[in-house]
Amino acid sequence: MEEIKVFCPATIANVSCGFDVLGLALDWVGDEMTVRKIPEKGIRISKIVGQELPLEAEQNVAGVAGLALLDKSDYEGGFEVEIDKRIKPGSGIGSSAASSAGAVWAMNELLGRPFSKLELVQFAMQGEKLASDVAHADNVAPAIYGGFTLVRSYEPLDIVPIPTPSELYATVIHPQIEIKTSDSRKILKTTISMQQGIQQWGNLGGLIAGLFQDDYDLIGRSLHDHIVEPIRSILIPAFDDIKANALSAGALGSGISGSGPSIFALSKGEAMAKKVAQSMQETYQNIGIDFDIHISKVNSQGVKKIT
Ligand code: HSE
Repeated sequence: MEEIKVFCPATIANVSCGFDVLGLALDWVGDEMTVRKIPEKGIRISKIVGQELPLEAEQNVAGVAGLALLDKSDYEGGFEVEIDKRIKPGSGIGSSAASSAGAVWAMNELLGRPFSKLELVQFAMQGEKLASDVAHADNVAPAIYGGFTLVRSYEPLDIVPIPTPSELYATVIHPQIEIKTSDSRKILKTTISMQQGIQQWGNLGGLIAGLFQDDYDLIGRSLHDHIVEPIRSILIPAFDDIKANALSAGALGSGISGSGPSIFALSKGEAMAKKVAQSMQETYQNIGIDFDIHISKVNSQGVKKIT
């Protein structure tokens, strides 16, 4: 195979109680990328459609991730990459992760799969490092593995795929502002209290157990974040109202998607996810804030070949 076209999905990172360790893949939007082998060593980004982003490999997340893969490969040639950027940067649904993960997954397919998923996550994390100054894996892991993933450890990297209850739906509303992950990380505190730790690991354990046991009530009881959300939510228009209205409409839980500004809610069943979407939508309409809103099942496959 000399050329491949792939779809790499958007993702929700953190999922309230799992800052930097938990993420899930979405169905409704993702970047599309065409990757082909070229004889010259290195990465050549020949085209980007949809967004203004750098073509220089060292300045582009897909380029940096690809260079990390080439560095560990005995392949003598390189790759040309075309990116159809469908996920807006700074939207909070893993835009940089989709391009980083899609690029290295496609390259691995073209080389006959010499690398494991875990290794692909490690390469894609270099793209995240370029985008946000930190090589976090909670977007790239679900983009590559599909479903929910837990980063059990960063050193050594240990990714645990987590099952998804079949009736779980995500509603994601994106107020039309951009928040850079690097900026929204700078405002966080670097220490937490023992009490905050106890709440957070209790909730994260509860959420993981709820996902394994198809226990929607437990999932709902666990979707809380007492550490990051109170700080970051001030950057997001009407966050408290959106969340409160989503919960009143019947969502299991709601929080900031990744580093924002998108806000997610999880619901049991599509009808409830639609009702929750309606309440979130009306909240922004009433105060005149432009938004996009979507409902999605959890994407169990992750990045995939289109042609
Ligand atoms: N865990 C990262 C953060 C995800 O919240 O900064 C960014 O999408």
